[in-house]
Amino acid sequence: MLGIETSCDETSAAVVEDGSTIRSNVISSQVLMHQKFGGVVPEVASRHHVRLILPVLDQALNDAGATLQDISAVAVAYGPGLVGSLLVGISAAKSIAMACNAPLIGVNHVIGHIYANVLAHKDLTLPAVCLTVSGGHTDLLLIGEDHSHTVIGSTRDDAAGEAFDKVARVLGLGYPGGPHVDRVSREGNPSSVKFPRPMIEEDNFDFSFSGLKTAVINHIHTLRQRGESVPVADVAASFQQALVDVLTAKTIRAAEQERVSTVMLSGGVAANTKLRQELQRECDSRGIRLFYPPPVLCTDNAAMIACAGYYLWRSGHRADLSLNAVPGLTLGGADREKESPDTP
Ligand code: KG4
Ligand code: ZN
Repeated sequence: MLGIETSCDETSAAVVEDGSTIRSNVISSQVLMHQKFGGVVPEVASRHHVRLILPVLDQALNDAGATLQDISAVAVAYGPGLVGSLLVGISAAKSIAMACNAPLIGVNHVIGHIYANVLAHKDLTLPAVCLTVSGGHTDLLLIGEDHSHTVIGSTRDDAAGEAFDKVARVLGLGYPGGPHVDRVSREGNPSSVKFPRPMIEEDNFDFSFSGLKTAVINHIHTLRQRGESVPVADVAASFQQALVDVLTAKTIRAAEQERVSTVMLSGGVAANTKLRQELQRECDSRGIRLFYPPPVLCTDNAAMIACAGYYLWRSGHRADLSLNAVPGLTLGGADREKESPDTP
């Protein structure tokens, strides 16, 4: 399976065998390009994808010791993401599928993140509750034994990664902010500021991080207005603790309610040290097994898209050459039917 991922600022292509063996996984990150703007500039991202997609595809085939003739099917992320970026990967995938007369599979990028765990852990058992946390999404999903997925909770406003990135920017840390907050927090006191834990007690699995982000930013502005210095490590650690407390509490409650003994973490924020530690502790004390991917599979990559594509392909999904980018693609069943051109 050839996988292609261009939904945001990573141009990636991968060859994955039988949905389990990564033969190659080439990721070209544009992060340095966007750093000076403090975020991804969509127009800049799509131009770079255009420049990088063919060399990245060539390298993925070379690294795998494969040629296009060895490819059984092509899987591509078709949403959610930036429309101009998505279109570059989709156009490449369609061209290869047409030229090689190979099946084309459209993959939801968020579902792709979940399959990073399938690739990384051969002993993974389903059903499971999966917390998918990245720059664009925060979702709690129930993954069935048959690989079906049901959304049981989502963010109502900012995604967890978005909150990390915005707080980091106000603290004067680099972009993307998550890894910086993670790093500086190790030197800080997580109880120094008592930030809110939004919706932690509510009897649902939804999240809301906009209020927490605003509370942190207001705290920093107040200190600056008073002419006081901002204790960056303490503020970062306190913010991170509040966010991790909410993510952990809701994930554990979901696992208990759904009576599953497996929990998965996926998406860029799954690389967060504190989140992994806290969730591990809570899972261990309940006999729940926790799985998370290695850092290279947490971030956007095409191997996870190829793996998800393999399972879709096995269950009969095929897209045709009318496959289009769906920037706002959701995880809901009805939306999938409506928006995905996949035909079983
Ligand atoms: O999955 P991803 O690479 O792209 C999207 O699909 O959004 O996730 C990127 C997000 C960014 O917001 C980044 O700050 C966050 O993941 N991130 C982290 C860490 N590493 C990446 N957040 C917290 N702690 C980390 N160690
Ligand atoms: Zn992602």
